[in-house]
Amino acid sequence: MPDVEQRLQRDYEAVLNKSDTPPTMAECLKEAVGKDAILITSFEKFGPDFIPALPPSVRIIATHSVGYDHLSVPQAKARGLALTNTPDVLTDATADISMLLLLGAARGASWGDRMVRENRWGTPTLVSPLGFDVSGKRLGILGLGRIGQAVARRAKGFGMELHYHSRNPVAGDLASGARYHASFEEMLPFCDFLSINSASTPETRGIINARTIALLPPNAIIINAARGDIVDDEALIAALKSGRLAAAGLDVFKGEPDIHPGYRSLENVFLLPHLGSATPGTRSAMGHRALDNLDAFFRGERPKDLLTGD
Ligand code: DGY
Repeated sequence: MPDVEQRLQRDYEAVLNKSDTPPTMAECLKEAVGKDAILITSFEKFGPDFIPALPPSVRIIATHSVGYDHLSVPQAKARGLALTNTPDVLTDATADISMLLLLGAARGASWGDRMVRENRWGTPTLVSPLGFDVSGKRLGILGLGRIGQAVARRAKGFGMELHYHSRNPVAGDLASGARYHASFEEMLPFCDFLSINSASTPETRGIINARTIALLPPNAIIINAARGDIVDDEALIAALKSGRLAAAGLDVFKGEPDIHPGYRSLENVFLLPHLGSATPGTRSAMGHRALDNLDAFFRGERPKDLLTGD
């Protein structure tokens, strides 16, 4: 964002990626020679070879994202590198996208929009086209961190019955009264809607698969605004095709932007191109949060969002 770039150039000898397309790992490593810090985004997914190959000058990586599954905390710790992320400032924007996915998937935003644009509206009948009710339905949230909690607050406003699974229960007021399930599998039969708001971790990767989808009630709807690799795409596509699931709303995809081609031809999916934090205000706040972390680090203080602390 221009205001973030201005601050960056005012306070640092910064080399900006003017093309706004993610650099390759080789380009980033070349540019990093002699630099103290790297500011990257979650779109730069360099994998496990990146941190060990960094030049010794680099002491901190600030990622312009809340998610940091593209960086290895253990690798960073092992070489004394600080990592920071940008939580809090994108909570509302991302929770809003979860609700957009939920409503869009349930009420046919995608196929409805296409019908109008493609002049296929025709004469409606009382039974076609139809979506699915949201108000009063049961919503299960996987991951009741900041974003999951903000989804719960919004869903409460829709009169939804709330359930959640997280590693640990959270205090009732933060959970908006949602019922805690210590086991993800035990929560699934209660989920007319399942919203994925957890980080991508070894525990959650692939947790939405044929076995867990089979535990959902009929006509369930899955929403994902977290990370694509939490979902087994083949299993989700098969369940959407067979009608085992009513619909899905997806903002994130494994391997994005090269998504599984099976999604493109499905009528019952509402697809967005990773828009969770994509508003000017939120992206700017994320940039400033990343710079606050860099500033604190170079003042010799502990950055607020240090991921590599004890
Ligand atoms: C994040 O910050 O992790 C988001 O997914 C990026 O939009």
